[in-house]
Amino acid sequence: MTLTSNLIEKKNLATQLPKAEVHVHLEGCFDPEQLALWAKESAISLPRPKEELLNFKGLADFLEFLDWSSSLVSTHERLAQLSYSYARRLSSNGGIYADLIFNPTHWKAWHGKLDNMLDAIDSGLRAAEQDGLASVGLCVSLLRQQSASEAVGLVDYLTALKHPRVVALSVDGNEAAAGRTGKRFAEAFSRAGNAGLKRTVHAGESSGPQGVSDAILLLGADRIDHGVRAIEDPAVVDLLTERNIPIGVCPTSNIKLGVYESFEKHPLNRLLESGVKVTINTDDPVLLNTTLVDEYLICQDTFGWSNDVLYQVAKNSIDASFAAPEEKIKFLKALNSWESQHCIR
Ligand code: ADE
Ligand code: ZN
Repeated sequence: MTLTSNLIEKKNLATQLPKAEVHVHLEGCFDPEQLALWAKESAISLPRPKEELLNFKGLADFLEFLDWSSSLVSTHERLAQLSYSYARRLSSNGGIYADLIFNPTHWKAWHGKLDNMLDAIDSGLRAAEQDGLASVGLCVSLLRQQSASEAVGLVDYLTALKHPRVVALSVDGNEAAAGRTGKRFAEAFSRAGNAGLKRTVHAGESSGPQGVSDAILLLGADRIDHGVRAIEDPAVVDLLTERNIPIGVCPTSNIKLGVYESFEKHPLNRLLESGVKVTINTDDPVLLNTTLVDEYLICQDTFGWSNDVLYQVAKNSIDASFAAPEEKIKFLKALNSWESQHCIR
């Protein structure tokens, strides 16, 4: 087999692998050409030259960019189109389900209109489902810098609205800049749990292992977004394994936003081997110029994974997702069929 046909075969296999994506932001799905076009139409200037639009200087710079890009989405049509495009992209990577995070604070045009915003995203996702594309649940996210009362206000609003597309409460943003905020958000996360929402928390990216333990012990996290810096404290790795709390790891994001120097130094494989329920994700796929399949291939190459490991990580992603139990059974059946063709048992 030639090198090229070997690469194509590997890529096909990773694409066909049925998998869920559990850590991805709608804010990370902007196409730079589209952004430049919308900015021109609305007579808004670019924050830097077009060729350098996606050159980020780290997490803080990246998060600032999200405020600018999200503010360009001012109509129902643009938001529905963006949401549809994500589902299409996921499906073309063999994704069968995603928990998609969005943070209302970034979207200026929708402030005070979260119900309309949810309806616009939902209409794009519904159209995608009708076209046979992957199904997607929504995780509504707080920003780390928000106050306790803003957090409780968001949860009470979501609880009253009961939008069927919303599956979880999330918190994202810059953990390092905001400091330890577990106690500040405890009441909001407790209310979310009581209202039947799942809970997912960005931690262990710009915060260390303490961010991960705070997310579990103070916020009752069902899942951790990133979580990789748990590796710095064996007790926190134990906490993840004992409670079987999955982590949504995003290798390329961690390299591009400066958490690790290289894939070789990334702790993903060590966490997996320690028994942590590791999943692979893109975080902000278009802005960081990656795909879900590429993330699986990078891990396969860097860590020398067999098909059995690919199967295990895909299974983790389905288990870790907030899809309905009857949906998960369907997804696991598809995955088991992949396994019977490609794994040696
Ligand atoms: N929002 C979008 N991407 C993020 C990341 N990598 N960390 C924190 N918040 C985010
Ligand atoms: Zn993220």
